[in-house]
Amino acid sequence: MTEPEGEERVRYGVIGTGMMGVEHINNLLAIDGAAVAAIADPEPLSLDFAHHAVGIDAPLERFADHRDLIASEACDAVVIASPNHTHHDILLDVLASPLHVLVEKPLCTTVADCRDVVEAAADGPAGRVVWMGLEYRYMPPTQRLMEEIAAGTVGNVRMVAIREHRFPFLHKVGNWNRFTRNTGGTLVEKCCHYFDLMNVVVGVRPRRVVASGAQDVNHLDEEYDGEIPDIIDNAYVVVEYENGVRAMLDLCMFAEASKNEQELCVVGDEGRVEALVSESIVRIGRRADGIGRTTEHPVADPRVQFEGFHHGSSYLEHLDFLAAIRSGSPPAVTLEDGLWSVAIGQAGHRSIEEGRWVDIAELFT
Ligand SMILES: NC(=O)c1ccc[n+]([C@@H]2O[C@H](COP(=O)([O-])OP(=O)(O)OC[C@H]3O[C@@H](n4cnc5c(N)ncnc54)[C@H](O)[C@@H]3O)[C@@H](O)[C@H]2O)c1
Repeated sequence: MTEPEGEERVRYGVIGTGMMGVEHINNLLAIDGAAVAAIADPEPLSLDFAHHAVGIDAPLERFADHRDLIASEACDAVVIASPNHTHHDILLDVLASPLHVLVEKPLCTTVADCRDVVEAAADGPAGRVVWMGLEYRYMPPTQRLMEEIAAGTVGNVRMVAIREHRFPFLHKVGNWNRFTRNTGGTLVEKCCHYFDLMNVVVGVRPRRVVASGAQDVNHLDEEYDGEIPDIIDNAYVVVEYENGVRAMLDLCMFAEASKNEQELCVVGDEGRVEALVSESIVRIGRRADGIGRTTEHPVADPRVQFEGFHHGSSYLEHLDFLAAIRSGSPPAVTLEDGLWSVAIGQAGHRSIEEGRWVDIAELFT
């Protein structure tokens, strides 16, 4: 790692050093100008996991409690990668300090908790960067899809269809992800990424949501302290936006036998663009070119130095987070973005439970 001339390295602390925390550490270690200075996690094995990633002889402060990391003054910025239900309280503690912060998705498990932290962030010191970790925006094929839409390739966007067909939820430390009370539910925990992409592509607020979903296949034979997991593993979710655009999510979490984990398709009045994430291909079809005519574009971002589990998107997200810290510029992805992605997920769960359309406004009363 080389240091940028004339600039101090930004010192990061990572709160929650399980799978995603260590993915953040590996990304930061690959970035010039970033240093991992401290870690916090109540689980000693997770601290050891992270310490090995940083290098067992590297200078690193270890804490069982995130409040001690904040007080240590060892860091300029923190990444929060602890379980979803802990984000609210940890973020409030971080926001009471001057530290820059990137919080992993979902922002919180409910709209009410998201609103709390959005409010707390509004009072922060000037130049402090508060960044919402929604790195699917940074996947190279997703970025290309958004560039094509911005360039007018498909005309006015009318429909957005996102399919995620993937493997079941992995095992997590203490099995926190097996229960909706900890995750906010699958549509919040997993699908906030896709609802965020819909929100970006459509560009106005979501108005109402209807969904059908269930836990049909996964985790039914598991038991934790006498409790069977309650997380849904498949759903269709339809979102209507204020401008009449409609979007749909097709989620299946027992479909690892598929070529692409994510397929995003946006159709406008002049054409269609799709991003196939595992293949890293963007396919474009313009109506003016005739029926069945498409062009296919392999996509890669040469800046990516670490692929990780998310096709290099976390690395690209960190480059922008670091650039914002250095320049004091506002975040490209905000806590409000996080709130609106959680809102669609929460509305989806309410729709499944109550069998009706749910107005997003209901979640704000
Ligand atoms: N952006 C993505 O694509 C993506 C992918 C995976 C996970 N995540 C998010 O990252 C977060 C962590 O998920 P994970 O997969 O790493 O889970 P994990 O179980 O592997 O790790 C979570 C870690 O947090 C620790 N922890 C628990 N309570 C804590 C607290 N109060 N303070 C500090 N640490 C605490 C646990 O001991 C564990 O080591 C979640 O919010 C999850 O939604 C995001």
